[in-house]
Amino acid sequence: MSILDNTSLQLPKENPDAEDFLPLLGTDYVELYVGNAKQAAHYYISAWGFQPLAYSGLETGQKNKVSYVLQQDKIKLVLTSPLKSGGEINNHINTHGDGVKAIALWVDDATKSYNETTRRGAKSYLKPQIVTDENGKAILSGIHTYGETIHIFVERRNYKGVFLPGFVPWNPYYKVTDVGLKYIDHMVGNVGWNEMDKWCKFYEEVMGFAQLISFDDNDISTEYTALMSKVMSNGNGRIKFPINEPADGRKKSQIEEYIEFYNGAGVQHMAMATDNIIETVGALRDRGVEFLTVLPSYYENVLDRVGEIDEDLAPLKDLSILIDRDDEGYLLQIFTKPILDRPTMFIEIIQRKGAKSFGKGNFKALFEAIEREQELRGTL
Ligand code: FE2
Repeated sequence: MSILDNTSLQLPKENPDAEDFLPLLGTDYVELYVGNAKQAAHYYISAWGFQPLAYSGLETGQKNKVSYVLQQDKIKLVLTSPLKSGGEINNHINTHGDGVKAIALWVDDATKSYNETTRRGAKSYLKPQIVTDENGKAILSGIHTYGETIHIFVERRNYKGVFLPGFVPWNPYYKVTDVGLKYIDHMVGNVGWNEMDKWCKFYEEVMGFAQLISFDDNDISTEYTALMSKVMSNGNGRIKFPINEPADGRKKSQIEEYIEFYNGAGVQHMAMATDNIIETVGALRDRGVEFLTVLPSYYENVLDRVGEIDEDLAPLKDLSILIDRDDEGYLLQIFTKPILDRPTMFIEIIQRKGAKSFGKGNFKALFEAIEREQELRGTL
């Protein structure tokens, strides 16, 4: 994964230290609260190659909010905007700007997931609720995690519709070819000073996760800034949540910048996996997605560091794709610039070729690239 976190394992990879009172089948969907869901949907379709899947709004009897659901292979994004002033969604957008509200997890039993986690101390967001329509029934429940972010447990084995009850198929004329994004590799949270251990403990005690790996400020620091990171993973390894906190440096770290503009803890980046990062990133660049670039000198000795790779170096250098190796293989990764006006969330594209690690060898080049952007924003 990443740089800012790191990532992880190819799925499914067991994490024997994790406990299995909360079996998770995978990431179900990621819901963002945004100021203008219609236009955001167009961005994720036209720039990111997502396909329209489902819709809920005034036409479906939903009076107060509108949601567009997009899909690319296993990744489902839900973009939600309020239709009236006041209320939770408006408050969330006012406080944080556009951002991730819910990381929804696919489970066999949403009631048990809720009971097991709340019994262990999770704060309730949504008591188990049966939702139905002519395509069957689903059960949803939810708990709070860091900041105002939540986890929704989705039990959908008795539901046959395109997404969830209340949504209708959305089939607009405009569609694009996908860019080869496959699944969510990991979702990274930024939390405040000295809060990383608290939230790692939350994932351990409340959700049965175990720590895969940790990085301290010796691993992740540049001349100016530092951060600390631990990667938490569930039992089957399908869910990986790195948690970052700022560390002392000579200037303001990217994590502090995030916390300042997001007004608290929240999702820093989503990492999406591809089987061909050169094609995926080339297509994204052609469609207007902007990526961080490292200095050309990064490529001068990168093969000395990572050894032989299958890809030609030239297209990797052209696209500014980063390379790292661990004992089990190598990985290719790249990070977008923030995809919102506030310098908060960004997206990572990752291709794993055996590596289970997090691109530690890229941290320095990556952070320096981020610092060059921070410098331009006056936030370093
Ligand atoms: Fe990452």
